[in-house]
Amino acid sequence: EIIDAKGLIVAPGFVDLHVHFRDPGQTYKEDILSGSKAAVAGGYTTVVCMPNTEPPIDSPEVVEYVKAKSKCWGICNVLPAGTVTRGRKGKELSDLWALKEAGCVAFTDDGAPVIDSSLMKKALELSAQLKAPVMNHCEDDRVAMGAINEGEVSALLGLSSRPPEAEDMLNARDCVLSYYTGGHVHIQHLTTALGVDIIRYFKGKGARVTCEVNPYHLLFTEEELLRSGANAKVNPPLRKKEDVEALREALSDGTIDCVATDHAPHAVFEKGRVDTAMPGIIGLQTALPVMLELVAKEYLSLIKLVELMSTNPAKIIGIEAGTLAEGAPADIVIFDLKKEWILDDETNFSKSRNTPLWGKTLTGKVIYTIKGGKVVYKD
Ligand code: NCD
Ligand code: ZN
Ligand code: ZN
Repeated sequence: EIIDAKGLIVAPGFVDLHVHFRDPGQTYKEDILSGSKAAVAGGYTTVVCMPNTEPPIDSPEVVEYVKAKSKCWGICNVLPAGTVTRGRKGKELSDLWALKEAGCVAFTDDGAPVIDSSLMKKALELSAQLKAPVMNHCEDDRVAMGAINEGEVSALLGLSSRPPEAEDMLNARDCVLSYYTGGHVHIQHLTTALGVDIIRYFKGKGARVTCEVNPYHLLFTEEELLRSGANAKVNPPLRKKEDVEALREALSDGTIDCVATDHAPHAVFEKGRVDTAMPGIIGLQTALPVMLELVAKEYLSLIKLVELMSTNPAKIIGIEAGTLAEGAPADIVIFDLKKEWILDDETNFSKSRNTPLWGKTLTGKVIYTIKGGKVVYKD
């Protein structure tokens, strides 16, 4: 097949270090097939799936299950992250060597922050030898117990809240531990202005710290809760204007390493009232249009977008992003900067629809995704 890419952008396939495919165990929300279809429709050729499944990805058997199922569909490269602690319970370390051997590319208890500093220190000491990053959901859940950001909107709605310091404290601790151990820590879904400063500082000190930001934290403030209700509920929560601005400014100066969607599907019945709803937003198909909006607003260049969505995240887990060079893996995305489309039942590949962007007109569309030389998505 000859592809006419005239007027389109051709780039290495996107790499997402943070998706929830809910498989095994919660496949009414998503599974490896539906998640993979959403991924390639969003231009992703490689994703790292989080281990908060049922059972969790904390044994070689579950790693094998994820690998086998994704290989059998063969649409997208689905790489498992293993848990840092057994059962994500925060009590004892998982067998990180066995998980790595089985094929895990990173470790995280995502959703359940690793609070025990001695466990985090041990995991980071191992990380250098394992050649795999230890990721963390940075929110001290003894301080962040509520539904949404602590601020004007939580006061207005009378909702329990999650203050930014809960995130900043754990982020700072993990940077300190990385600095002393030499281990590679990857801060997941960074959301605060102070967090940007913390990471910038420790990078300056030479610590092996990387971080990701979720497109929604670059787009929305806590006020989105007033419009979208539970579909705007996510952990860490949508924050204030100053935080959004600080994250946007940090996209181009090397402080933020990559964009990761934290694609977190939930069923409609799990997204009722804000106070009781499950946190999380689907994001695989909306990431590119959101990032292109920021390109249009001149927060970053198109080249930087490709770095943040493809080459940088690939480096973090030690894989090669697809390139256009001869002999390199032909994992490629071809997209249209201007094409408008709507995320709805016709276009959505996820089993879930929990996003404030549902039904909205988006600008920028993936036209082809090519994985290992095969067209796996075509608009
Ligand atoms: C995630 C989920 O639903 O698994 N939810 C979320 O609000 N981000 C867990 C997580 O990423 O912490
Ligand atoms: Zn998380
Ligand atoms: Zn997550």
